[in-house]
Amino acid sequence: MTARIIDGIALSAEVRGQLAERAAALKSKGITPCLAAILVGEDPASAVYVRNKVAACEKAGMRSIKDVYSVDVDPAVVFARIAELNADPAVHGILVQLPLPKHFDSAAVLESISPEKDVDGFHAENVGALMQGNPRFIPCTPYGVMKMLESANVPLKGAEVVIVGRSNIVGKPMAMLLLAKSCTVTICHSQSKDLAFHTRRADILVAAVGRAKMITGDMIKPGATVIDVGINRNSEGKLCGDVDFDSAKEVAGAITPVPGGVGPMTITMLLANTLEAAERVAAGNAKGVAK
Ligand code: GUN
Repeated sequence: MTARIIDGIALSAEVRGQLAERAAALKSKGITPCLAAILVGEDPASAVYVRNKVAACEKAGMRSIKDVYSVDVDPAVVFARIAELNADPAVHGILVQLPLPKHFDSAAVLESISPEKDVDGFHAENVGALMQGNPRFIPCTPYGVMKMLESANVPLKGAEVVIVGRSNIVGKPMAMLLLAKSCTVTICHSQSKDLAFHTRRADILVAAVGRAKMITGDMIKPGATVIDVGINRNSEGKLCGDVDFDSAKEVAGAITPVPGGVGPMTITMLLANTLEAAERVAAGNAKGVAK
């Protein structure tokens, strides 16, 4: 049997339509939701991500600001710009595209963003709030995955979840969100022994390692839901995930494709967080928690 495809493009279109309506409602009250994106350096993948984020904002009726700095910029310049954006009441969300060049203290940069505008949910205060089960902003990729699981009616209570990858951006927040839904969560990483032993136990398998096609069909439990967060390029330059789609789809019950799976949902949830930040300002509750 071939797996059901969880279509991130279709779900994104649906959610973005709802967000555009909310953005229009806010605009009619004189507030245009605005995202500021900062890109340092010329990493081509990062440049594409930021371009897509900014374009998605405009399409949903939100405003965006894009600041691009050369790879050798003095970090003080970026800190000064973040301070300016923090103080600007017309800016509701701020993101600094990661990774930053090596001469940057990335943690310090993330901490310099106002927690009320931290639409990536990477500020330590927001990470702590998520860990306490009271999130202010849910990091966009795990947030998108949760929406995909919900739309596909995947049962979560008591489900065995295995996450491959322990990053701050995906693996760790993903674990917190699934734990909050009463899943039993295992996080695997590069030093895990016998990865396939773990992945074969998973009712829900989340691959977020950044290695092309490393999860193959024989590592998947029959009928499992497979979420592929990876965005890699193969030797021909074609986009592919962390999961070997062709072998996995013969075993899994449901699977997200790459492209057209988690990627579009990440951007959609960034829009959702930016809109949420603007709505909180409009309601006089900028410190509010995520819905
Ligand atoms: N780099 C890879 N993913 C992300 C993300 O979700 N946000 C930011 N700011 N940088 C990233």
